[in-house]
Amino acid sequence: MAEHTKSAKLTIDGKDYELPIFSPSAGPDVIDIRKLYAQAGVFTYDPGFTSTAACDSTITFIDGDKGELLHRGYSIDELASKSHYLEVCYLLLYGELPSPAQLEDFESRVTNHTMIHEQMINFFRGFRRDAHPMAVMVGVVGAMSAFYHDSTDINDPWQREVASIRLIAKMPTVAAMAYKYSVGQPFVYPRNELDYASNFLRMCFAVPAEDYEVNPILSRAMDRIFTLHADHEQNASTSTVRLASSSSANPFACIAAGIACLWGPAHGGANQACLEMLNEIGTPDRIPEFIARAKDKNDPFRLMGFGHRVYKNFDPRATVMKESADEVLELLGVENNPILQVAKELEAAALADPYFTEKKLFPNVDFYSGIILEAMGFPTSMFTPIFAVARTVGWISQWKEQISDPQLKIGRPRQLYQGSTRRPYQDIENR
Ligand code: SDX
Repeated sequence: MAEHTKSAKLTIDGKDYELPIFSPSAGPDVIDIRKLYAQAGVFTYDPGFTSTAACDSTITFIDGDKGELLHRGYSIDELASKSHYLEVCYLLLYGELPSPAQLEDFESRVTNHTMIHEQMINFFRGFRRDAHPMAVMVGVVGAMSAFYHDSTDINDPWQREVASIRLIAKMPTVAAMAYKYSVGQPFVYPRNELDYASNFLRMCFAVPAEDYEVNPILSRAMDRIFTLHADHEQNASTSTVRLASSSSANPFACIAAGIACLWGPAHGGANQACLEMLNEIGTPDRIPEFIARAKDKNDPFRLMGFGHRVYKNFDPRATVMKESADEVLELLGVENNPILQVAKELEAAALADPYFTEKKLFPNVDFYSGIILEAMGFPTSMFTPIFAVARTVGWISQWKEQISDPQLKIGRPRQLYQGSTRRPYQDIENR
Protein backbone atom coordinates (compact mmCIF):
# COMPACT_ATOMS: atom_id res chain seq x y z
CA MET A 1 0.00 0.00 0.00
CA ALA A 2 1.27 3.50 -0.85
CA GLU A 3 2.47 5.60 2.09
CA HIS A 4 0.76 8.71 3.44
CA THR A 5 3.18 11.51 2.55
CA LYS A 6 1.13 14.61 3.31
CA SER A 7 -2.38 15.52 4.41
CA ALA A 8 -5.39 17.65 3.51
CA LYS A 9 -7.32 19.73 6.01
CA LEU A 10 -11.10 19.75 5.92
CA THR A 11 -13.05 22.23 8.02
CA ILE A 12 -16.70 21.43 8.83
CA ASP A 13 -18.75 23.64 11.13
CA GLY A 14 -15.55 25.23 12.41
CA LYS A 15 -13.89 21.90 13.24
CA ASP A 16 -10.72 20.84 11.36
CA TYR A 17 -10.10 17.31 10.14
CA GLU A 18 -6.73 16.05 8.87
CA LEU A 19 -7.12 13.67 5.92
CA PRO A 20 -3.97 11.71 4.99
CA ILE A 21 -2.90 11.82 1.31
CA PHE A 22 -1.42 8.84 -0.55
CA SER A 23 1.21 9.53 -3.22
CA PRO A 24 0.85 6.69 -5.79
CA SER A 25 3.61 5.42 -8.08
CA ALA A 26 1.76 7.17 -10.94
CA GLY A 27 -1.35 9.28 -11.29
CA PRO A 28 -3.00 11.84 -9.01
CA ASP A 29 -2.60 11.92 -5.24
CA VAL A 30 -5.39 10.18 -3.31
CA ILE A 31 -7.08 11.60 -0.21
CA ASP A 32 -7.78 8.82 2.30
CA ILE A 33 -11.36 9.41 3.52
CA ARG A 34 -11.88 5.97 5.06
CA LYS A 35 -12.24 7.45 8.58
CA LEU A 36 -14.18 10.56 7.53
CA TYR A 37 -17.67 9.33 8.46
CA ALA A 38 -16.46 7.97 11.83
CA GLN A 39 -14.67 11.24 12.63
CA ALA A 40 -16.90 13.89 11.06
CA GLY A 41 -20.24 12.12 10.56
CA VAL A 42 -20.39 13.11 6.89
CA PHE A 43 -20.39 11.21 3.57
CA THR A 44 -18.73 12.27 0.32
CA TYR A 45 -20.89 12.40 -2.82
CA ASP A 46 -19.60 11.03 -6.16
CA PRO A 47 -22.34 9.01 -7.97
CA GLY A 48 -20.37 8.40 -11.18
CA PHE A 49 -17.11 7.83 -9.28
CA THR A 50 -15.56 10.66 -11.32
CA SER A 51 -13.22 11.59 -8.44
CA THR A 52 -13.12 8.36 -6.45
CA ALA A 53 -10.41 5.71 -6.17
CA ALA A 54 -12.39 2.61 -5.18
CA CYS A 55 -9.33 0.40 -4.61
CA ASP A 56 -5.57 0.27 -4.82
CA SER A 57 -4.11 -1.78 -7.67
CA THR A 58 -0.82 -2.64 -9.37
CA ILE A 59 -2.25 -4.05 -12.61
CA THR A 60 -3.15 -1.30 -15.12
CA PHE A 61 -2.46 2.42 -15.24
CA ILE A 62 -4.14 4.95 -17.56
CA ASP A 63 -2.95 8.50 -18.08
CA GLY A 64 -6.03 10.03 -19.73
CA ASP A 65 -4.32 13.31 -20.58
CA LYS A 66 -1.34 11.66 -22.28
CA GLY A 67 -3.45 8.89 -23.81
CA GLU A 68 -1.25 6.27 -22.17
CA LEU A 69 -2.27 2.73 -21.12
CA LEU A 70 0.19 0.53 -19.20
CA HIS A 71 -0.26 -3.10 -18.14
CA ARG A 72 2.15 -3.81 -15.26
CA GLY A 73 4.20 -0.89 -16.64
CA TYR A 74 4.31 -2.05 -20.29
CA SER A 75 2.59 0.22 -22.84
CA ILE A 76 -0.33 -1.12 -24.83
CA ASP A 77 1.20 -0.16 -28.18
CA GLU A 78 4.35 -2.18 -27.40
CA LEU A 79 2.31 -5.14 -26.16
CA ALA A 80 0.01 -5.00 -29.22
CA SER A 81 2.96 -5.03 -31.62
CA LYS A 82 5.51 -7.21 -29.80
CA SER A 83 3.52 -9.54 -27.53
CA HIS A 84 0.47 -11.76 -27.94
CA TYR A 85 -2.73 -12.23 -25.96
CA LEU A 86 -1.82 -15.22 -23.77
CA GLU A 87 1.51 -13.61 -22.87
CA VAL A 88 -0.43 -10.45 -21.89
CA CYS A 89 -2.77 -12.69 -19.86
CA TYR A 90 0.25 -14.05 -17.98
CA LEU A 91 1.55 -10.52 -17.41
CA LEU A 92 -1.80 -9.30 -16.06
CA LEU A 93 -2.29 -12.35 -13.84
CA TYR A 94 1.21 -12.73 -12.39
CA GLY A 95 2.76 -9.27 -12.75
CA GLU A 96 5.80 -10.07 -14.91
CA LEU A 97 6.47 -11.12 -18.50
CA PRO A 98 6.93 -14.92 -18.53
CA SER A 99 10.11 -16.83 -19.29
CA PRO A 100 9.85 -19.19 -22.28
CA ALA A 101 9.22 -22.11 -19.93
CA GLN A 102 6.62 -20.20 -17.92
CA LEU A 103 4.83 -19.14 -21.11
CA GLU A 104 4.82 -22.67 -22.51
CA ASP A 105 3.40 -24.04 -19.24
CA PHE A 106 0.74 -21.30 -19.06
CA GLU A 107 -0.35 -21.76 -22.67
CA SER A 108 -0.53 -25.52 -22.12
CA ARG A 109 -2.71 -25.10 -19.02
CA VAL A 110 -5.08 -22.76 -20.87
CA THR A 111 -5.21 -24.99 -23.95
CA ASN A 112 -6.11 -28.03 -21.85
CA HIS A 113 -9.07 -26.28 -20.24
CA THR A 114 -10.79 -25.03 -23.42
CA MET A 115 -13.56 -27.66 -23.50
CA ILE A 116 -16.67 -27.11 -21.38
CA HIS A 117 -18.59 -29.78 -19.45
CA GLU A 118 -20.59 -31.65 -22.13
CA GLN A 119 -23.81 -31.33 -20.14
CA MET A 120 -23.60 -27.52 -20.41
CA ILE A 121 -24.63 -27.85 -24.04
CA ASN A 122 -28.19 -28.28 -22.72
CA PHE A 123 -28.17 -24.67 -21.54
CA PHE A 124 -27.86 -23.37 -25.09
CA ARG A 125 -30.90 -25.32 -26.20
CA GLY A 126 -33.01 -23.42 -23.68
CA PHE A 127 -32.49 -20.11 -25.47
CA ARG A 128 -34.42 -18.88 -28.50
CA ARG A 129 -32.24 -18.94 -31.61
CA ASP A 130 -32.49 -15.15 -31.83
CA ALA A 131 -31.29 -14.62 -28.24
CA HIS A 132 -28.48 -12.05 -28.08
CA PRO A 133 -25.20 -13.94 -27.53
CA MET A 134 -24.51 -11.74 -24.50
CA ALA A 135 -27.70 -13.06 -22.86
CA VAL A 136 -26.40 -16.57 -23.48
CA MET A 137 -22.95 -15.76 -22.10
CA VAL A 138 -24.33 -14.23 -18.91
CA GLY A 139 -26.44 -17.34 -18.35
CA VAL A 140 -23.89 -19.98 -19.28
CA VAL A 141 -20.94 -18.40 -17.46
CA GLY A 142 -23.01 -17.90 -14.31
CA ALA A 143 -24.06 -21.55 -14.56
CA MET A 144 -20.42 -22.69 -14.72
CA SER A 145 -20.40 -22.47 -10.90
CA ALA A 146 -22.84 -25.40 -10.99
CA PHE A 147 -20.30 -27.52 -12.88
CA TYR A 148 -16.94 -26.57 -11.44
CA HIS A 149 -17.51 -26.90 -7.69
CA ASP A 150 -13.83 -27.77 -7.22
CA SER A 151 -12.83 -24.19 -8.10
CA THR A 152 -15.35 -22.02 -6.29
CA ASP A 153 -13.71 -21.74 -2.85
CA ILE A 154 -12.13 -18.30 -3.15
CA ASN A 155 -10.17 -18.78 0.07
CA ASP A 156 -8.14 -21.57 -1.51
CA PRO A 157 -5.32 -20.09 -3.68
CA TRP A 158 -5.18 -23.26 -5.76
CA GLN A 159 -8.90 -23.10 -6.52
CA ARG A 160 -8.55 -19.40 -7.39
CA GLU A 161 -5.82 -20.35 -9.85
CA VAL A 162 -7.84 -23.17 -11.43
CA ALA A 163 -10.94 -20.95 -11.75
CA SER A 164 -8.82 -18.25 -13.42
CA ILE A 165 -7.41 -20.65 -15.99
CA ARG A 166 -10.81 -22.26 -16.61
CA LEU A 167 -12.51 -18.92 -17.27
CA ILE A 168 -9.79 -17.60 -19.59
CA ALA A 169 -9.76 -20.93 -21.44
CA LYS A 170 -13.50 -21.51 -21.72
CA MET A 171 -14.80 -18.04 -22.60
CA PRO A 172 -13.90 -18.36 -26.30
CA THR A 173 -15.61 -21.76 -26.38
CA VAL A 174 -18.78 -20.38 -24.79
CA ALA A 175 -18.79 -17.31 -27.08
CA ALA A 176 -18.26 -19.44 -30.18
CA MET A 177 -21.05 -21.80 -29.10
CA ALA A 178 -23.38 -18.84 -28.58
CA TYR A 179 -22.60 -17.74 -32.13
CA LYS A 180 -23.04 -21.21 -33.63
CA TYR A 181 -26.35 -21.61 -31.81
CA SER A 182 -27.57 -18.25 -33.19
CA VAL A 183 -26.84 -19.32 -36.78
CA GLY A 184 -28.18 -22.85 -36.40
CA GLN A 185 -24.85 -24.57 -37.03
CA PRO A 186 -23.37 -27.43 -34.97
CA PHE A 187 -20.95 -26.58 -32.16
CA VAL A 188 -17.26 -26.93 -33.07
CA TYR A 189 -14.95 -28.31 -30.40
CA PRO A 190 -11.63 -26.59 -29.62
CA ARG A 191 -8.42 -28.07 -31.03
CA ASN A 192 -5.31 -28.27 -28.86
CA GLU A 193 -2.88 -27.73 -31.71
CA LEU A 194 -4.27 -24.24 -32.41
CA ASP A 195 -3.30 -21.01 -30.67
CA TYR A 196 -5.93 -19.12 -28.68
CA ALA A 197 -7.14 -16.76 -31.44
CA SER A 198 -7.03 -19.42 -34.18
CA ASN A 199 -9.01 -21.80 -31.98
CA PHE A 200 -11.70 -19.16 -31.47
CA LEU A 201 -11.96 -18.37 -35.18
CA ARG A 202 -12.20 -22.05 -36.06
CA MET A 203 -14.87 -22.70 -33.42
CA CYS A 204 -16.85 -19.79 -34.91
CA PHE A 205 -16.43 -20.37 -38.63
CA ALA A 206 -15.63 -24.07 -39.24
CA VAL A 207 -18.44 -26.41 -40.34
CA PRO A 208 -18.35 -30.25 -40.32
CA ALA A 209 -18.94 -30.33 -44.07
CA GLU A 210 -15.43 -29.22 -44.98
CA ASP A 211 -11.95 -28.56 -43.63
CA TYR A 212 -11.28 -25.08 -42.22
CA GLU A 213 -7.88 -23.43 -42.42
CA VAL A 214 -7.46 -20.40 -40.17
CA ASN A 215 -6.28 -17.36 -42.14
CA PRO A 216 -3.11 -16.17 -40.32
CA ILE A 217 -4.02 -12.56 -41.09
CA LEU A 218 -7.31 -12.99 -39.27
CA SER A 219 -5.82 -14.87 -36.31
CA ARG A 220 -3.15 -12.17 -35.86
CA ALA A 221 -5.84 -9.46 -36.03
CA MET A 222 -8.06 -11.41 -33.63
CA ASP A 223 -5.19 -11.87 -31.19
CA ARG A 224 -4.41 -8.15 -31.32
CA ILE A 225 -8.07 -7.26 -30.69
CA PHE A 226 -8.02 -9.57 -27.65
CA THR A 227 -4.85 -7.84 -26.40
CA LEU A 228 -6.31 -4.34 -26.87
CA HIS A 229 -9.37 -5.25 -24.77
CA ALA A 230 -7.64 -7.25 -22.04
CA ASP A 231 -7.85 -4.86 -19.10
CA HIS A 232 -8.59 -1.22 -18.43
CA GLU A 233 -8.24 -0.22 -14.77
CA GLN A 234 -11.49 0.28 -12.83
CA ASN A 235 -14.04 0.55 -15.68
CA ALA A 236 -17.71 -0.17 -15.04
CA SER A 237 -17.63 -3.94 -15.64
CA THR A 238 -14.39 -4.43 -13.69
CA SER A 239 -15.84 -2.41 -10.81
CA THR A 240 -18.91 -4.67 -11.00
CA VAL A 241 -16.68 -7.75 -10.73
CA ARG A 242 -14.84 -6.20 -7.79
CA LEU A 243 -18.07 -5.34 -5.97
CA ALA A 244 -19.44 -8.85 -6.55
CA SER A 245 -16.18 -10.42 -5.37
CA SER A 246 -16.26 -8.30 -2.18
CA SER A 247 -19.22 -10.42 -1.00
CA SER A 248 -17.05 -13.55 -1.55
CA ALA A 249 -19.26 -14.66 -4.44
CA ASN A 250 -17.70 -17.42 -6.52
CA PRO A 251 -15.57 -16.39 -9.53
CA PHE A 252 -18.06 -17.60 -12.16
CA ALA A 253 -20.83 -15.50 -10.60
CA CYS A 254 -18.51 -12.47 -10.46
CA ILE A 255 -17.52 -12.79 -14.11
CA ALA A 256 -21.17 -13.27 -15.13
CA ALA A 257 -21.90 -9.96 -13.37
CA GLY A 258 -19.08 -8.32 -15.33
CA ILE A 259 -20.48 -9.67 -18.63
CA ALA A 260 -23.90 -8.26 -17.78
CA CYS A 261 -22.47 -4.79 -17.09
CA LEU A 262 -20.23 -4.82 -20.17
CA TRP A 263 -23.30 -5.38 -22.37
CA GLY A 264 -24.52 -1.80 -21.97
CA PRO A 265 -24.08 0.47 -25.05
CA ALA A 266 -22.35 3.10 -22.91
CA HIS A 267 -19.65 0.49 -22.18
CA GLY A 268 -18.72 -2.67 -24.08
CA GLY A 269 -21.95 -2.62 -26.10
CA ALA A 270 -20.65 0.49 -27.87
CA ASN A 271 -18.78 -1.55 -30.48
CA GLN A 272 -22.05 -3.03 -31.72
CA ALA A 273 -23.85 0.33 -31.41
CA CYS A 274 -21.02 2.08 -33.26
CA LEU A 275 -21.17 -0.17 -36.31
CA GLU A 276 -24.96 0.06 -36.36
CA MET A 277 -24.55 3.87 -36.25
CA LEU A 278 -22.00 3.83 -39.11
CA ASN A 279 -24.32 1.62 -41.17
CA GLU A 280 -27.22 4.00 -40.43
CA ILE A 281 -25.12 6.97 -41.57
CA GLY A 282 -24.31 4.91 -44.66
CA THR A 283 -22.62 7.58 -46.78
CA PRO A 284 -20.29 10.50 -45.97
CA ASP A 285 -22.87 13.08 -47.09
CA ARG A 286 -25.03 12.18 -44.08
CA ILE A 287 -22.25 12.81 -41.55
CA PRO A 288 -23.19 16.47 -40.83
CA GLU A 289 -26.73 15.37 -39.89
CA PHE A 290 -25.40 12.93 -37.30
CA ILE A 291 -22.78 15.34 -35.96
CA ALA A 292 -25.61 17.87 -35.43
CA ARG A 293 -27.70 15.27 -33.61
CA ALA A 294 -24.76 14.32 -31.35
CA LYS A 295 -24.38 18.00 -30.39
CA ASP A 296 -28.09 18.58 -29.83
CA LYS A 297 -28.84 18.54 -26.09
CA ASN A 298 -32.45 17.63 -26.84
CA ASP A 299 -31.43 14.59 -28.85
CA PRO A 300 -30.32 11.55 -26.79
CA PHE A 301 -28.18 10.41 -29.75
CA ARG A 302 -24.44 10.25 -29.06
CA LEU A 303 -21.59 9.37 -31.40
CA MET A 304 -20.98 5.76 -30.42
CA GLY A 305 -17.31 4.88 -30.11
CA PHE A 306 -16.55 8.47 -29.14
CA GLY A 307 -15.69 9.93 -25.76
CA HIS A 308 -14.31 8.36 -22.61
CA ARG A 309 -14.45 8.99 -18.87
CA VAL A 310 -10.67 8.84 -18.53
CA TYR A 311 -9.12 9.55 -21.93
CA LYS A 312 -9.15 13.28 -22.67
CA ASN A 313 -6.79 12.59 -25.53
CA PHE A 314 -6.67 9.75 -28.04
CA ASP A 315 -7.47 6.29 -26.65
CA PRO A 316 -4.19 4.54 -27.53
CA ARG A 317 -6.13 1.38 -28.30
CA ALA A 318 -8.15 3.24 -30.94
CA THR A 319 -4.93 4.34 -32.61
CA VAL A 320 -3.67 0.75 -32.84
CA MET A 321 -7.13 -0.48 -33.88
CA LYS A 322 -7.32 2.10 -36.71
CA GLU A 323 -3.93 0.97 -38.05
CA SER A 324 -5.08 -2.63 -37.78
CA ALA A 325 -8.31 -1.85 -39.62
CA ASP A 326 -6.36 -0.42 -42.57
CA GLU A 327 -3.99 -3.42 -42.60
CA VAL A 328 -6.63 -6.17 -42.20
CA LEU A 329 -9.08 -4.71 -44.71
CA GLU A 330 -6.30 -4.24 -47.27
CA LEU A 331 -5.04 -7.81 -46.72
CA LEU A 332 -8.62 -9.05 -47.07
CA GLY A 333 -9.00 -7.04 -50.25
CA VAL A 334 -11.82 -4.91 -48.84
CA GLU A 335 -9.80 -1.74 -48.30
CA ASN A 336 -12.49 0.19 -50.18
CA ASN A 337 -14.95 -0.74 -47.44
CA PRO A 338 -17.46 2.16 -47.56
CA ILE A 339 -18.10 1.93 -43.81
CA LEU A 340 -14.41 2.40 -43.06
CA GLN A 341 -14.54 5.50 -45.24
CA VAL A 342 -17.57 6.78 -43.34
CA ALA A 343 -15.76 6.12 -40.03
CA LYS A 344 -12.66 8.00 -41.11
CA GLU A 345 -14.63 10.96 -42.43
CA LEU A 346 -16.84 10.99 -39.32
CA GLU A 347 -13.73 11.02 -37.10
CA ALA A 348 -12.22 13.88 -39.13
CA ALA A 349 -15.47 15.88 -39.03
CA ALA A 350 -15.89 15.41 -35.29
CA LEU A 351 -12.27 16.28 -34.51
CA ALA A 352 -12.64 19.46 -36.57
CA ASP A 353 -15.70 20.48 -34.55
CA PRO A 354 -15.17 22.57 -31.36
CA TYR A 355 -18.00 20.71 -29.61
CA PHE A 356 -15.91 17.53 -29.58
CA THR A 357 -12.47 19.08 -29.17
CA GLU A 358 -13.52 21.37 -26.31
CA LYS A 359 -15.20 18.45 -24.50
CA LYS A 360 -12.09 16.34 -25.30
CA LEU A 361 -14.13 13.67 -27.07
CA PHE A 362 -11.93 11.36 -29.16
CA PRO A 363 -12.49 7.94 -30.74
CA ASN A 364 -12.28 5.16 -28.15
CA VAL A 365 -11.48 1.46 -28.43
CA ASP A 366 -14.96 0.75 -29.81
CA PHE A 367 -14.83 3.11 -32.79
CA TYR A 368 -12.81 0.97 -35.22
CA SER A 369 -13.03 -2.51 -33.67
CA GLY A 370 -16.43 -3.27 -35.20
CA ILE A 371 -15.20 -2.50 -38.70
CA ILE A 372 -12.47 -5.13 -38.38
CA LEU A 373 -14.79 -7.66 -36.75
CA GLU A 374 -17.41 -7.23 -39.48
CA ALA A 375 -14.73 -7.63 -42.17
CA MET A 376 -13.66 -10.84 -40.41
CA GLY A 377 -17.19 -12.21 -40.81
CA PHE A 378 -18.73 -11.58 -37.39
CA PRO A 379 -22.28 -10.23 -37.04
CA THR A 380 -22.60 -7.09 -34.88
CA SER A 381 -24.22 -9.18 -32.13
CA MET A 382 -20.87 -10.95 -31.62
CA PHE A 383 -18.85 -7.78 -31.09
CA THR A 384 -19.53 -7.41 -27.36
CA PRO A 385 -19.13 -11.16 -26.66
CA ILE A 386 -15.66 -10.86 -28.23
CA PHE A 387 -14.96 -7.92 -25.92
CA ALA A 388 -16.10 -10.08 -22.99
CA VAL A 389 -13.79 -12.93 -24.05
CA ALA A 390 -10.83 -10.54 -24.13
CA ARG A 391 -11.70 -8.72 -20.91
CA THR A 392 -12.08 -11.93 -18.87
CA VAL A 393 -8.37 -11.88 -18.02
CA GLY A 394 -8.69 -8.30 -16.79
CA TRP A 395 -11.71 -9.12 -14.67
CA ILE A 396 -10.01 -12.21 -13.29
CA SER A 397 -6.73 -10.39 -12.55
CA GLN A 398 -8.56 -7.62 -10.71
CA TRP A 399 -10.75 -10.22 -8.93
CA LYS A 400 -7.68 -12.13 -7.73
CA GLU A 401 -6.01 -8.91 -6.58
CA GLN A 402 -9.10 -7.92 -4.64
CA ILE A 403 -9.79 -11.22 -2.86
CA SER A 404 -6.12 -11.75 -2.06
CA ASP A 405 -6.21 -8.52 -0.03
CA PRO A 406 -6.30 -9.44 3.68
CA GLN A 407 -7.99 -6.07 4.30
CA LEU A 408 -10.88 -7.02 1.96
CA LYS A 409 -14.16 -5.48 3.10
CA ILE A 410 -17.55 -5.90 1.47
CA GLY A 411 -18.32 -2.94 -0.80
CA ARG A 412 -21.23 -1.05 0.71
CA PRO A 413 -21.61 2.58 -0.50
CA ARG A 414 -23.94 4.99 1.33
CA GLN A 415 -26.21 7.64 -0.23
CA LEU A 416 -27.39 11.22 -0.30
CA TYR A 417 -30.96 10.58 0.89
CA GLN A 418 -33.53 13.04 -0.51
CA GLY A 419 -36.69 11.05 0.16
CA SER A 420 -39.47 11.45 2.76
CA THR A 421 -38.60 11.62 6.41
CA ARG A 422 -40.63 9.50 8.86
CA ARG A 423 -44.41 9.84 8.49
CA PRO A 424 -47.39 7.85 9.95
CA TYR A 425 -49.17 5.18 7.89
CA GLN A 426 -52.50 6.35 6.44
CA ASP A 427 -55.34 3.76 6.33
CA ILE A 428 -56.80 3.49 2.87
CA GLU A 429 -60.13 4.95 3.92
CA ASN A 430 -58.31 8.15 4.95
CA ARG A 431 -56.31 8.68 1.71
C1 SDX B 1 -15.70 1.62 -23.07
O1 SDX B 1 -14.22 3.05 -18.60
C2 SDX B 1 -13.57 2.38 -19.47
O2 SDX B 1 -12.37 2.24 -19.42
C3 SDX B 1 -14.43 1.74 -20.56
C4 SDX B 1 -13.67 1.06 -21.70
C5 SDX B 1 -12.96 -0.18 -21.23
O3 SDX B 1 -11.99 -0.59 -21.89
O4 SDX B 1 -13.43 -0.80 -20.24
O5 SDX B 1 -12.74 1.96 -22.25
C6 SDX B 1 -14.62 0.63 -22.80
O6 SDX B 1 -16.74 1.53 -22.47
C7 SDX B 1 -15.41 2.78 -24.00
C8 SDX B 1 -16.61 3.78 -24.08
C9 SDX B 1 -17.64 3.19 -25.03
N1 SDX B 1 -18.88 4.01 -25.01
C10 SDX B 1 -19.20 4.79 -26.07
O7 SDX B 1 -18.50 4.95 -27.06
C11 SDX B 1 -20.58 5.43 -25.94
C12 SDX B 1 -20.51 6.90 -26.35
N2 SDX B 1 -19.71 7.60 -25.32
C13 SDX B 1 -20.42 8.25 -24.26
O8 SDX B 1 -21.61 7.66 -23.87
C14 SDX B 1 -19.51 8.78 -23.15
O9 SDX B 1 -18.48 9.41 -23.77
C15 SDX B 1 -18.96 7.81 -22.13
C16 SDX B 1 -20.05 7.02 -21.47
C17 SDX B 1 -18.00 6.88 -22.75
C18 SDX B 1 -18.25 8.64 -21.06
O10 SDX B 1 -19.21 9.40 -20.42
P1 SDX B 1 -18.81 10.41 -19.22
O11 SDX B 1 -17.36 10.34 -18.92
O12 SDX B 1 -19.76 10.20 -18.10
O13 SDX B 1 -18.98 11.80 -19.87
P2 SDX B 1 -20.35 12.58 -19.95
O14 SDX B 1 -21.45 11.65 -20.34
O15 SDX B 1 -20.51 13.36 -18.69
O16 SDX B 1 -20.07 13.54 -21.19
C19 SDX B 1 -19.37 14.77 -20.98
C20 SDX B 1 -19.95 15.70 -22.05
C21 SDX B 1 -21.49 15.73 -22.01
O17 SDX B 1 -21.87 17.00 -22.52
P3 SDX B 1 -22.27 18.14 -21.38
O18 SDX B 1 -23.39 17.57 -20.54
O19 SDX B 1 -20.99 18.39 -20.57
O20 SDX B 1 -22.68 19.33 -22.22
O21 SDX B 1 -19.62 15.20 -23.36
C22 SDX B 1 -20.80 14.83 -24.05
C23 SDX B 1 -21.90 14.70 -23.01
O22 SDX B 1 -23.18 14.98 -23.60
N3 SDX B 1 -20.53 13.56 -24.71
C24 SDX B 1 -20.88 13.24 -25.95
C25 SDX B 1 -20.36 11.95 -26.15
N4 SDX B 1 -19.74 11.53 -25.05
C26 SDX B 1 -19.84 12.52 -24.15
N5 SDX B 1 -21.58 13.91 -26.89
C27 SDX B 1 -21.74 13.28 -28.07
N6 SDX B 1 -21.28 12.04 -28.37
C28 SDX B 1 -20.58 11.36 -27.42
N7 SDX B 1 -20.13 10.12 -27.71
